[in-house]
Amino acid sequence: MKKIEVFAPSTVANVACGFDVLGFAMEGIGDTISISKTSTVGISIEHGKGCKGIPTNPQKNVIGVAVNALLESLAYTEKAGFRFKVSKNVKPGSGLGSSASSSSAAVFGVNELLGNPYTKRDLIKFAMKGEEAASGLPHADNVAPSLLGGFTLVRSYEPLDVVSLTYPESLYTTVVHPQIEVKTSDSKKILKRKVDLRDAITQWGNVGGLVAGLAQSDFGLIGRSLQDVIAEPTRSMLIPLFKEAKEAAFKEGALGASISGSGPSIFALSFSRKIAESIAIAFNNVYASNNILAHVYISRINPIGAEILS
Ligand code: HSE
Repeated sequence: MKKIEVFAPSTVANVACGFDVLGFAMEGIGDTISISKTSTVGISIEHGKGCKGIPTNPQKNVIGVAVNALLESLAYTEKAGFRFKVSKNVKPGSGLGSSASSSSAAVFGVNELLGNPYTKRDLIKFAMKGEEAASGLPHADNVAPSLLGGFTLVRSYEPLDVVSLTYPESLYTTVVHPQIEVKTSDSKKILKRKVDLRDAITQWGNVGGLVAGLAQSDFGLIGRSLQDVIAEPTRSMLIPLFKEAKEAAFKEGALGASISGSGPSIFALSFSRKIAESIAIAFNNVYASNNILAHVYISRINPIGAEILS
């Protein structure tokens, strides 16, 4: 095989209580990458739709960093290279795992072209190198669901231990992306370095509650657990109309709502498409009535993750 087109979805990371450990994949939005094996050694990156402001230099682009990590691990010496053409339908700095979708799609596609030396799960550690290049820290809460699909928990970073969670099929998310950019690296810098013990107790109680609620399809428990006392109080200050959007989601019946990844997107979870659609209208109203451009997405949890398109 010399050429492949792949897709890796956008993701909601943290999911309120699970800072750097929880995430889920969305349907319909993400990165599409065409990858060709070339006779010239090295990586070249061409930009298609939605890539404004992203470097094409493979040393600086997450695709180059993640794919080089994969090739190094294979001690790849073939006199061949890879050309990538990337199209994005969500802007970088959205809080929807834009860099993770690129890294995940790229390592997934190259692995396919090389005859699948690795499983999807093995690829997480290479995609994490892309995250490190983008934000300074090799977090896996976006790349794990983007590659594997579904709802994932990073149980441990050292050694890496990613768990695919059971979740109710009727779970929907509504995401609003106010059109401002928040860099993950900046949004990480503003966090407090130390966590109060009482907050830690609240947070890990909620992580356990959310995982149990998802496994038991207990929507009440899911809702009670969607609380973040660690990152949200600080980060929400960077997001226009955060409080108003969250209140509007609750009014429409959301189980919970919080910041998607490092923001500025806000996600809400609900147990039916009807409620998810009402939340979408409410999110739109909040931003439109304040003259802030915002995009709204409704999605089920994407069970597939990275996939071959052609
Ligand atoms: N867990 C990461 C953070 C996700 O909150 O910084 C970045 O999208």
